[in-house]
Amino acid sequence: MLVSAKEMLDKAKAGHYAVGQFNINNLEWTKAILQTAQECNSPVILGVSEGAGKYMTGYKTVVGMVNGMLEELGITVPVALHLDHGSYDHCYKCIEAGFSSIMFDGSHYPIEENIAKTKELVAAAHAKGMSIEAEVGSIGGEEDGVVGMGECADPNECKSIADLGIDFLAAGIGNIHGKYPENWKGLSFETLDAIQQLTGDMPLVLHGGTGIPTEMIQKAISLGVAKINVNTECQLSFAAATREYIEAGKDQQGKGFDPRKLLAPGAEAIKKTVKEKMEIFGSVGKA
Ligand code: 13P
Repeated sequence: MLVSAKEMLDKAKAGHYAVGQFNINNLEWTKAILQTAQECNSPVILGVSEGAGKYMTGYKTVVGMVNGMLEELGITVPVALHLDHGSYDHCYKCIEAGFSSIMFDGSHYPIEENIAKTKELVAAAHAKGMSIEAEVGSIGGEEDGVVGMGECADPNECKSIADLGIDFLAAGIGNIHGKYPENWKGLSFETLDAIQQLTGDMPLVLHGGTGIPTEMIQKAISLGVAKINVNTECQLSFAAATREYIEAGKDQQGKGFDPRKLLAPGAEAIKKTVKEKMEIFGSVGKA
């Protein structure tokens, strides 16, 4: 059964580790991530962007697929199904469809409007036992059409949003979706520290987990990050393994063109990436 992400993230924050949010795109992604979480005895959050939700034909399909897999694969570790960077309307769609967690990304609104909409969605999500993430400041780069300038969050604004009863908070600290550019200045630990001082026990979320060096991840966890989002890195692993299979001509040997064979190396590559991340985040054995 899907669970809210609140309990797993409160435990992670208290235990000084982080739970990975891995974004899903299709059946292979979902299966690979769930199997790895079970093997690693780790809690996990499946992230669904609006674009990926649309690609998978809609949120109800996603809920049906994930619930079916939890049962058919015998998954016993805590799993949350979470809307990633949700708009106001799509938060309601996911509440209706049976997700167990949502993110309302109101970071592009003036702070008063972000506060008003977040407050309303906190009540709607909690009425259904779901967890809710909010965002202040913006994550740089682009994810599925959501573009951010990457400005660092104002710690006082973070406190105002945290006080609305949200369950975890995404704050821009110089992180970027996608690959980090050569001239990236790194994460702003001063900002993160100031946010944690004001928001106390609130689990903090680090978006743009792809390509952040391990020491920075560990430092971020020591300063209150309890959820780390990874998307691009699984896409890169999947693409590289698929390319290798095709370039080696394996799709032309025997029944190598069978989609279950063709997509298998990519799925294995996702599993490897997810396992590596769970080890770095410290969530292995924490289910
Ligand atoms: P990356 O694609 O950079 O890993 O970021 C993922 C993310 O933050 C999803 O919200």
